[in-house]
Amino acid sequence: MKIGILTSGGDCPGLNAVIRGIVLKGTTTYDLEFVGIRDGWRGVVDGDFFPLTRHEVKGLSKVGGTILGTSRTNPYEGTRGGAENIAKTLYGHRIDGIVAIGGEGTLAAADRLAKDGINVLGVPKTIDNDLRATDYSFGFDTAVNIATDAMDRLRTTGDSHQRCMVAEVMGRHVGWIALHAGMAAGAHVICIPEVPMSMDEICSLVSSAAARGRAPLVVVSEGFTLKGMDEAYSDKGLDAFNRPRLGGISEILAPEIERITGIETRSTVLGHIQRGGSPSGFDRVLATRLGLHAADALVDGAWGQMVAMRGTDIVRVPFAEALGELNTVPRSRYDEAAALFG
Ligand code: F6P
Repeated sequence: MKIGILTSGGDCPGLNAVIRGIVLKGTTTYDLEFVGIRDGWRGVVDGDFFPLTRHEVKGLSKVGGTILGTSRTNPYEGTRGGAENIAKTLYGHRIDGIVAIGGEGTLAAADRLAKDGINVLGVPKTIDNDLRATDYSFGFDTAVNIATDAMDRLRTTGDSHQRCMVAEVMGRHVGWIALHAGMAAGAHVICIPEVPMSMDEICSLVSSAAARGRAPLVVVSEGFTLKGMDEAYSDKGLDAFNRPRLGGISEILAPEIERITGIETRSTVLGHIQRGGSPSGFDRVLATRLGLHAADALVDGAWGQMVAMRGTDIVRVPFAEALGELNTVPRSRYDEAAALFG
């Protein structure tokens, strides 16, 4: 059996470890043949494939990014897109099925293709940790570690100047990175998309931390909305999926905090640093395990499903279960952290 592997959507530390896991187990245990698909669904549509052997994946579990390249191409768009054309392209290259490693957008496309008769298996990927079907996604732990390290650094400079520091992290729809990194770094306020707050609420926590002699640290997700805002702050236009490109809410909050509290305030947007570099040990293991189990699923013909983490086990779930509702931060988890605010 010949299988194409693609990575699609935003990159994420651990993608290479998944690819390595699939290829190692697939070739050594099951005698499968693999091709890499360049730049996500773009490579499927254009028939851009290259041989992927044990040699190409050696030493990859520690390497950030993706050796396959990625894009946010929609496989149903363009003259060569659509299930019928893709089926012909795959047939022409004698490819029996695809492993699609990606987030919500990728898995939605995979689901549609699977329903249209293409053999697709999914592996969930998101630093945001926003997919409902998996307890944790690889990349999240690395992003939290990077953000925590950055906030520790912001705190020493904030302490030196007695400034309020506002740190903005990724998290389009959900606040997991902000919640975990903020708790790890001892933030005085954490602002997440699931819990809109007013400037007065934020400033009262900032002032109370400052009154205790602390240099306040405010952590905010890019998708956070102030009470009264209809949608997340965006001034960068749309991405390839027509979603607003987020980032910059911290630059709105910082001057307001300074104006209302009188405390000198600086903002830092961590941005794509959270997605770059080597995966953490946790993410390497999770990504590798997902890859190994994906190889098993290929042999079982588990098309239309994805591998996922439940507790400490790797299980298979239908695409439909992974889509729709997001893995939001439960109110109880936020309230737990909020006991430490101010
Ligand atoms: O979906 C993951 C994510 O990192 C979001 O947190 C963020 O909004 C988005 O990707 C950024 O995407 P891009 O790399 O296309 O700017």
